[in-house]
Amino acid sequence: MKVLVGFATAAGSTEGVAQRIAGIVRENGHEVETHNVDEVTDLHGYEAFIIGSAVHNQAWLPNAAAFLSRENPALSGKPVWLFSIGLPGALRGPMRKWAGLEESDILAGLADDVRPLGHELFTGVVTPQAFGKVGARVFRLMGGRFGDFRDWAAIDAWANQIAEDLTDTETLG
Ligand SMILES: Cc1cc2nc3c(=O)[nH]c(=O)nc-3n(C[C@H](O)[C@H](O)[C@H](O)COP(=O)(O)O)c2cc1C
Repeated sequence: MKVLVGFATAAGSTEGVAQRIAGIVRENGHEVETHNVDEVTDLHGYEAFIIGSAVHNQAWLPNAAAFLSRENPALSGKPVWLFSIGLPGALRGPMRKWAGLEESDILAGLADDVRPLGHELFTGVVTPQAFGKVGARVFRLMGGRFGDFRDWAAIDAWANQIAEDLTDTETLG
């Protein structure tokens, strides 16, 4: 199947996840292109979509949300998976659990535009620079840590499952 992995990023870590997902789906025999959502103007020819965005303030970046809204006619009726890149994994214990609850808010913000077959919230790269001085201090006080929290094993597993589902769809016609 011809698959588009589309992404929106503020600081780059979501692009790394998108490339990784694309690589896994490609290894499984599918034709895959990876593009920033701002660069895709024609969705003609793609048979499935895996679209992801960095999360700011419990929502997708505006350009990623706008992409889903704008491309709704091209996406509807095709298999679509979504992924969000946030920070729950940079927190500990109850704070991590609490941060993970944002998944429903993220999806609620996109609900009018797409009915995905699946959604996954992963953690990306979290830096003090991105938060600014005060934001970084608050984050530390919440028990947050800075670093690259991308869980490649979990990302690979998710992508492999999608690739298998795509293969099944192809086989079943
Ligand atoms: C201004 C700002 C707001 C953020 N808000 C959230 C949030 O509400 N929820 C969350 O899980 N992560 C939040 N994050 C963390 C980022 O989503 C995380 O660092 C992610 O890896 C960024 O992806 P990127 O490197 O592709 O930009 C925020 C980061 C910034 C800089």
